[in-house]
Parts: sequence; structure tokens; C-alpha cells
Amino acid sequence: MAFPASGRPLNSLNMNDLTANWKRKDLLSIEPLHREEIETIHQLARRFKELQASNPSSIPSLRGRTVLNLFIEPSTRTRIAFEIAAKRLGADVTLVEKAASSLVKGESLRDTAQVVEALQADVIVLRHSAAGSPQYLSQIVKVPVINAGDGAHEHPTQALLDTFTMREHLGDSLEGKKVTILGDILFSRVARSNIFALQKLGAQVTLSGPATLVPANFEKLGVTVELNLRKALADADAVMLLRIQHERQTSTHFPSLDEYKSMYGLNQARGAWLKPEAIIMHPGPVNRGVELDSSLADSGRSVILEQVANGIFTRMAVIYLCLSACGKTKDTSQ
Ligand code: CP
Repeated sequence: MAFPASGRPLNSLNMNDLTANWKRKDLLSIEPLHREEIETIHQLARRFKELQASNPSSIPSLRGRTVLNLFIEPSTRTRIAFEIAAKRLGADVTLVEKAASSLVKGESLRDTAQVVEALQADVIVLRHSAAGSPQYLSQIVKVPVINAGDGAHEHPTQALLDTFTMREHLGDSLEGKKVTILGDILFSRVARSNIFALQKLGAQVTLSGPATLVPANFEKLGVTVELNLRKALADADAVMLLRIQHERQTSTHFPSLDEYKSMYGLNQARGAWLKPEAIIMHPGPVNRGVELDSSLADSGRSVILEQVANGIFTRMAVIYLCLSACGKTKDTSQ
């Protein structure tokens, strides 16, 4: 598989070719990105994935750089993938979590960010429950800020790894491919980032789930809202399940989890409505037996763990590109 965004074979492009068109210091959201920028991230992620398999010692080094993981909201896969990504590039990584930081003593996010910049962090990766906080931080610090999920706004690196994984399975071009996102769309930053990324890459997006969590006004984003689950699944090339995001919901949107499961959970019977070759995706964490049965989550149609693994390479690409835009991709250890 190749990602021929430049028109040249991927293996003929060197690191300068791969980074030349990237001008952004920060990655705050998918919404303002051009298709070519997403292609650039995917190309570089693909290169890192190939190098990791064939010749890890030739992965360009960011030795001497420090990636600061500022995680003010819980995370397993995003935090660990960013950490592994930074280490694969030879960078140092420091983790700041809310409970173990001076944030619990009342220090502001602004002061925390200025402290870590003074301590010579080269990149700040921020997860925060407040939508817009990475944007806010990017106006305060000079170093790159990467959004690792901000409230119900966006989760850009999740959409990048999801679309990367789709391209590996559905073909290099997502043009005309049909992707159904099922579940709690209203409170999902993953859904928003994927809607933007998929549309930029030419895919057709259908949203489904309870009407209370899939409002018709999402159609303003250019997607189809199809509340009939059977119809929403019938011609999908990929279905992406979302968990119910209780932590962001301010009121009850359906009577109970059992009722959600009985109406919208993807089980064996509903899985049979999908095309045989359709892939099953989930950003995680999965609430097994609610939005997705274990028999499907662990089946050959599921690419959930491939999504997790691809999170390393897409985040290596994002870290590398944001530092390259600041002229900071040189190994500083000598
Ligand atoms: N998909 C995702 O963001 O998972 P984590 O919350 O575990 O990072």
C-alpha cells in the first residue's frame, strides 16, 4: 500500500520532502486542515511504520528534545501512544497529570504551561476536559501544542489514526467510501474530528444512534443522519462505535444502558446487517456488551487494536511535523 499524495512513490521521498509542505506549529483540530495536510501526516506515519518494521535505527532522531504530556483528564491509549511515539523518535518524555501536579493547589493552566515551557519542554501535548483549552494554550506558549482531546470539541490525532487505519483496510483512497458512526455523537470529540477528516478525504459519513444523541442539525456538517440502524449499517464500508460519554452528559438522553444496548448495541444479529467485508472500529475505551458485543469486538472484522497500534505512528508524524515547522527536528545531543 502506498499513499501517493505527492504523485511520487513514498519510498522515493526523503524526510525533507515529507515535511516540506507542513507549516503548522500546532495541531489543534482537524477542521482547518487541508486534505493535503492530512495526506502529509499519513505519508509520514506510513514512513515511520515502515522504518519501525525494517530499520528502526534509521528513524530520524529528536534526541535532546522533550515532549511534555499534560494530561488533565484520564487517558490510557492516547497518553501511552504519545509517550511511545516520542521515545521512538529519541525524545525525552515527561508526564504531568492533574492529581500529581500543582493544579490541585489552584495553579492555573496558563501558569502550568509557562512553567513547563520555562523547564524547556519542546512540545506540549494537552488533554483537557475544557473545549478550546489547546487553542488557549497555543496563544500563551511559543512551543508547539498538540491537542490530545479537548472536551466535546475535537480529538484530532484519533481521527488521523482512524483514517490511516481505514486507508490500510479500505484502499488508499477513501473517496466515496461509506463510514457509519454509531452512538453518542452529540458529546463525542472523536465523531467531530472524524467527520471533518473523512469528508476532507472524500468519504461519505452517516451518523446513527438515539435521536437525542444524534441531532438532525449535524446534517449542517454535510453528513447524513439515519436513525434507522439497519439502513445506517447496510452499505457501510466501516462502522465506528462510540461509547456513551457519561462524563460529558448533563442530563439523561436515554432511559438506561440496557435499553441503549437493546436498541443500538452492535451484536451478532445486527452485525449481520453489515456487508461481509465491512470493518468494525472503536476509538476505545469499549464498554463491552453495551455499544459493542465482545463477539464482534474480538472478531476478525474488528480493527480496534490496529487503531491503537497506528496511534504510535500517526503521533510520531504529528510530533515530528510540528517540530519541523519550528526548525527543531535536529538531534541536539551532540
Ligand atoms: N481513544 C482515546 O482517546 O482513548 P483514551 O481516553 O484511553 O486515550
